[in-house]
Amino acid sequence: MATILYEDCAKKDILKDKIIAVIGYGNQGRAHALNLRDSGFSVIVGARLDGASYEQASKDGFTTYSIEEAAGLSELTVLTLPDEQIPRVYYGSIEPHAKPYTTYLFAHGFAINYKTITLPKTADIIMVAPTGPGHQVRSLYLAHKGLPALVAVEQDSSGQAREKALAYADGIGSTRAGVIETSFQEETIVDLFCEQAVLCGGIPELIKSSFETLVKNGYQPELAYISCLKEVKLIADLLFDRGLDGMRRAISNTARYGAYMTGPELIDSRTRHRLDSALERIESGQFARIFLEDADRPDNLARTMQAEEKNSRLNKTGAELKKNLTF
Ligand SMILES: NC(=O)c1ccc[n+]([C@@H]2O[C@H](COP(=O)([O-])OP(=O)(O)OC[C@H]3O[C@@H](n4cnc5c(N)ncnc54)[C@H](OP(=O)(O)O)[C@@H]3O)[C@@H](O)[C@H]2O)c1
Ligand SMILES: [Mg+2]
Repeated sequence: MATILYEDCAKKDILKDKIIAVIGYGNQGRAHALNLRDSGFSVIVGARLDGASYEQASKDGFTTYSIEEAAGLSELTVLTLPDEQIPRVYYGSIEPHAKPYTTYLFAHGFAINYKTITLPKTADIIMVAPTGPGHQVRSLYLAHKGLPALVAVEQDSSGQAREKALAYADGIGSTRAGVIETSFQEETIVDLFCEQAVLCGGIPELIKSSFETLVKNGYQPELAYISCLKEVKLIADLLFDRGLDGMRRAISNTARYGAYMTGPELIDSRTRHRLDSALERIESGQFARIFLEDADRPDNLARTMQAEEKNSRLNKTGAELKKNLTF
């Protein structure tokens, strides 16, 4: 059983008088910064002066600096930037200004696991990775709850790295729900694999293909959209609240029988073999290499696919339905 830690394990004082600089005020960064400030920590934001984040952070009442200035003042630097941008921002704007004993905190292990940057030996390197998007980190905090998080220590030069990670997890509200200890390597591999195989790769591709199968065979796109895409939320909620067994019990006998017949036909030994290959591509670093090489190309895989999906029948049906159906 994994070790799960709660509020009583966090010594909040360890970060109380430290300047925490949040670099990257986007999805995760904004939620972390707001929660940490509400928890009584000293938070500043570092952002590029011409970007939207600089204005947003200032509007949110933070003392906002250039990334270079924030890096110079910081005792704990939070790198909540897109993973592929971290090397450029770190070497260009942070490293030349940072104090040698700075603690670096990540919301995902990518940069450290794949060694896209090398941090000083004198630094603490820690991770607090919430298990969901930033808006949930914020909304659950405001509801006096928290989003579970994964914590890890990669380098402990101060002898207090783990305590700092737990205090930070407490500051963003995660110890209210529970935090699980892991390593940078394990978090990176599991996170990338699950987003590719299940959450952002597998489920959407199955939705797209099933929608197309129905429409190609003459069924109304609106019905196909509701059944293949909208209803995913209802099943996801059941899985989330009651687990696999609870979901199976909540559906009809017909749905359950059909699921046991067709599910294993779709996810057969060939699919399992492809899952092994996807995992190997992540573990070997091949995925990270391709992703980083592709990042700056205007016609990279993500941009090409996104443009293609934008014009798809599925997307157009969704947009039309949104105007006409409150569901
Ligand atoms: N998104 C999630 O749900 C989620 C969940 C768990 C962990 N994570 C991890 O959290 C980290 C941050 O992800 P995110 O989704 O929160 O990132 P994000 O929203 O895409 O980050 C956007 C922020 O990064 C800044 N930025 C981007 N490129 C920059 C550059 N070249 N120079 C300076 N600033 C730049 C943007 O500033 P401007 O406004 O100036 O453009 C903005 O403040 C990643 O390690 C990710 O894997 C994300
Ligand atoms: Mg991820």
